[in-house]
Amino acid sequence: MRASLQAITEELRRLKLAGVTSVPVADETLERLRRVVGRRAAAGAVERPAAAPAPVVAPATPAPERIREATRSGSPAAPSAAPSWTPPAVHLPPGSKAERWAALKAMVEGDPVCRSHLRPGKRVVVGVGSLDSALMFVGEAPGAEEEIQGEPFVGPAGQLLTRMIVAMGVAREEVYIGNIMNWRPGLPTAEGGEQVGNRPPTAGEMAYCLPFLRAQVEVVAPRFLVALGATAAQGLLGAGAFKTLGEVRGRWHDFGGIPLMVTYHPSYILREPTPRRKRLIWEDLLQVMERAGLPISERQRGYFLER
Ligand code: URA
Repeated sequence: MRASLQAITEELRRLKLAGVTSVPVADETLERLRRVVGRRAAAGAVERPAAAPAPVVAPATPAPERIREATRSGSPAAPSAAPSWTPPAVHLPPGSKAERWAALKAMVEGDPVCRSHLRPGKRVVVGVGSLDSALMFVGEAPGAEEEIQGEPFVGPAGQLLTRMIVAMGVAREEVYIGNIMNWRPGLPTAEGGEQVGNRPPTAGEMAYCLPFLRAQVEVVAPRFLVALGATAAQGLLGAGAFKTLGEVRGRWHDFGGIPLMVTYHPSYILREPTPRRKRLIWEDLLQVMERAGLPISERQRGYFLER
């Protein structure tokens, strides 16, 4: 129950950062939450666990019925949990790109901390794509499909990302796609049940996986990076670099000397597939295409402009 309350609190924090000021809640849910809080208070357990973020709404403000299916895009991960593991020191062996990447992949897939976060039958997820790509996309974390297939961006958000890449005139296999996280951040489930929905990674989880992402950047050495959503932006720009994604998206930044464009996560469109949202992301990608010297037709320039 504590984990569920923490997940709800983190989601409310994200919504607040994204500018949401109220959320609908069923009376029945509100009543259930009141009962839980009442029981905890009676048991003297009302003090917040050390890792939990401060509530972001007044106590009377309702909580969402359940964690949204896709929580990605609007606001940075809550800097809640202190790291409970030391981030790995990644030393890549000498050799070709392919050799170094294969060694890195084996390292990540065999990493005990990554593996300890997996549910039975699920996989650690490492980036995928061309090691010679000029373009590297960075997302947040594997979701349900990704942890099954062991590949980033293969679920609904991934299929949309693939269409976005194709719209840029490039094939998915020609770019490199990675994530901040190598495992799917867990949510409590019923005994033996499948996880429903996703949660953003904690600061500690991100700090643990970041050396693996940095190593992928080192191997691929892309000319441009694209951060998809707030968690990716936070991972690459650093905690505290911004409060809302709107402050940093659509602009060039720097990641260790590599130009970094920040845009929304594809799930931002999946949640509300309006031409306006599509155009916002598309304008960011047009900037990437321009800077990368990719050909841009008049038709491409006009994608998603409302008529
Ligand atoms: N969303 C992400 O950020 N990464 C994935 O791999 C899939 C969905």
